[in-house]
Amino acid sequence: MMPVFRNLAKTAKEALLINGCSCQIPAMSVRLMSWSPRQVNADASFHSVSFAESDHPRVLITGGLGQLGVGLANLLRKRFGKNNIILSDIRKPPDHVFHSGPFIYSDILDYKNLREIVVNNRITWLIHYSALLSAVGEANVPLARNVNITGLHNVLDIAAEHNLRLFVPSTIGAFGSTSPRNPTPDLCIQRPRTIYGVSKVHAELMGEYYHHKYGMDFRCLRYPGIISADTLPGGGTTATMEKRSAKKYTAKLKLQVVAEAEHSNNVKAAKLFGVGESCVRNWRKQKEKLMESPSNKCANRGSKCHWPQLEDNVSKWVSENRENGYIITRSKIRLYALREARNMGIREFTASPGWCTRFMKRHDFVLRRKTKIAQRLPKELEEKVTSFQTFVIKHHKANSYQLSCIG
Ligand SMILES: NC(=O)c1ccc[n+]([C@@H]2O[C@H](COP(=O)([O-])OP(=O)(O)OC[C@H]3O[C@@H](n4cnc5c(N)ncnc54)[C@H](O)[C@@H]3O)[C@@H](O)[C@H]2O)c1
Repeated sequence: MMPVFRNLAKTAKEALLINGCSCQIPAMSVRLMSWSPRQVNADASFHSVSFAESDHPRVLITGGLGQLGVGLANLLRKRFGKNNIILSDIRKPPDHVFHSGPFIYSDILDYKNLREIVVNNRITWLIHYSALLSAVGEANVPLARNVNITGLHNVLDIAAEHNLRLFVPSTIGAFGSTSPRNPTPDLCIQRPRTIYGVSKVHAELMGEYYHHKYGMDFRCLRYPGIISADTLPGGGTTATMEKRSAKKYTAKLKLQVVAEAEHSNNVKAAKLFGVGESCVRNWRKQKEKLMESPSNKCANRGSKCHWPQLEDNVSKWVSENRENGYIITRSKIRLYALREARNMGIREFTASPGWCTRFMKRHDFVLRRKTKIAQRLPKELEEKVTSFQTFVIKHHKANSYQLSCIG
């Protein structure tokens, strides 16, 4: 239903072509939520408005280093002049972006700094792109709530205070599984199940409210899933910057994705949550297992055993040694496993610390540690220990008990 745009410049251009409330792009579910007849005629497209050099807007794009910001800045710079379009973000811009026009550091959670930027640069239009998108947002809800909701409040207040025109994109994620489909009306049930979707519904309503209350020129389009031609998807949001390789999905999130996929289809669910389609397929297969997992567990990660025979041998060795009273440490396990793997001709096995952790988990082995909470020792300790040892040894000799039977 929602087309995926491969060319950002084209998308941005099309977005700018929209006339008032009516959309000129067939089959694209992009909607204009609100407009201000105060500044632009309702039936005038952006392209039909001609700007004299002095009339050029001074535009600030927040979150401009994401998928959409750079492409939009290029387009607007061609139209309004390079220096009138200021990109901002909390990340360091790549060289080509830095040299292509003004860039400024701006954290939308820093109200004072944002206001300073607006004042010092005589900003007249604010394009608010900073956001944590669905999958990243679900992985860090408090941060998503801050960036997507508190950040929006900052932007709204600054726009109201300085009489800026404000554009905030919304998303197809602002709908939920209970929204009517095909055609989906502009005004309908919107019960999204992600913090991202919820924050976007909030943004739509807040924008309308500020428009009615303060006459703010607030505009909002519900974008479809867009893949930028020049920036990686999902790249660079606050959370992924913190640790890009540690993208974890909890069992709960996976089940939400599965529910969406069952309700619509894999492609739509993947787009909505910003995950790969193959993940959706796998998670659907694992549904039953996921339902049994604790909801915040990044389920089943790394628990698959690649060398079952090797692990069986190692497990047997650990049990035997423990039975004989030997202390088995993690390094001993790894050394033995490595030796055993070489004997079995498994060359790719490295007995890494991670493998050891997973092996112990799979075979229910734990390392016993000295407890920090000690009992007060009895006065006659030595006497008691000696008499107990004598007792054990005597019965061990008399009855040939296994050591493991003595507890
Ligand atoms: N890409 C899509 O498919 C799509 C679809 C619908 C709506 N949208 C909306 O369009 C806008 C841009 O999307 P995108 O794909 O470029 O997102 P993106 O995740 O690629 O970029 C978001 C940017 O926000 C920045 N950011 C995060 N925290 C910030 C903070 N505290 N202060 C300032 N900047 C911060 C990040 O560094 C990042 O560069 C978003 O509002 C998004 O909700 C995008």
